[in-house]
Amino acid sequence: MLSYRHSYHAGNHADVLKHLVQVTILDYLLQKDKPLCYHDSHAGAGLYSLGSEHAQKTAEYQQGIGRLWQYQPTSAPLARYLALIKNLNPDNSLAFYPGSPKIAALMLRPQDTIQATELHPSDYPILQSQFARRRRSRIENIDAYAGFKAMLPPLDKRGLVLLDPPYELKTEYTDLVAGLSEAYRRFPQATYAIWYPVIERPAVEAFISAIVATGIKNQLRIEYCPCPDKAGFGMSGSGMLVINPPYTLADSMREALNELAPLLAEPTPATPEAARLLWQVSQLVGE
Ligand SMILES: C[S@@+](CC[C@H](N)C(=O)[O-])C[C@H]1O[C@@H](n2cnc3c(N)ncnc32)[C@H](O)[C@@H]1O
Repeated sequence: MLSYRHSYHAGNHADVLKHLVQVTILDYLLQKDKPLCYHDSHAGAGLYSLGSEHAQKTAEYQQGIGRLWQYQPTSAPLARYLALIKNLNPDNSLAFYPGSPKIAALMLRPQDTIQATELHPSDYPILQSQFARRRRSRIENIDAYAGFKAMLPPLDKRGLVLLDPPYELKTEYTDLVAGLSEAYRRFPQATYAIWYPVIERPAVEAFISAIVATGIKNQLRIEYCPCPDKAGFGMSGSGMLVINPPYTLADSMREALNELAPLLAEPTPATPEAARLLWQVSQLVGE
């Protein structure tokens, strides 16, 4: 049943977008001294070797972080994200890529809490071992949505909840909408970041409409498709739907995506106008 392994995909263009948004949100939340809680519902293994058999088999990272990691960015969000990747690879060769819980661990302070759920029997122990010595962490081998019921709301009254299912089954879309509603009911002050793939355009729009229809306010859509539409035959891009985004997030992402869009695009856009068509940042529901 659990066939998805993120080790085949770590560092691809979808991870770049997801983690760029994650880092930018956490950076904002970290401006205040008050402790925060980071909750990762589909956490993966936490750290990925790009020399592994899995990563080498697909080589997806080569069209993602592989193209970027030595680039000198001008926008602050892209600079912050790339600095994390460079710090993890001090030897001037790209050997490791951090997953979302590892990024949180690299950024958060001792007073902040990290919660994560991961179901896969092989990935969970790898993840868990990285947090064995961190206080204020709770890493569970349970279903994401059982995790919301068991762990939310946290003691800290603010934070980020990342929802990043593999979407291998059609039911994962409806499960996510129901799970999000439950999490939001328990922890409405949090920022929520929901990753989604762009595979078939009508299915994407139906999914976005279902999240809008929850009635949850303040929803921001951030999407980037570096490849042309493959009409259902693969992922052309991905998006992050962010609930309760920091008020600075939309502008930060416009600046970052303007710079990022041509760098990962396949084929390279002929003009800045063509690159501009690859991404969108739009407020779906007001505050
Ligand atoms: C896309 S990967 C996560 C990647 C990770 N968030 C990152 O950015 O580094 C999705 C993960 O969800 C796990 N998973 C699938 N269904 C799950 C469920 N119902 N509850 C918890 N984890 C689940 C998979 O085993 C997989 O590791």
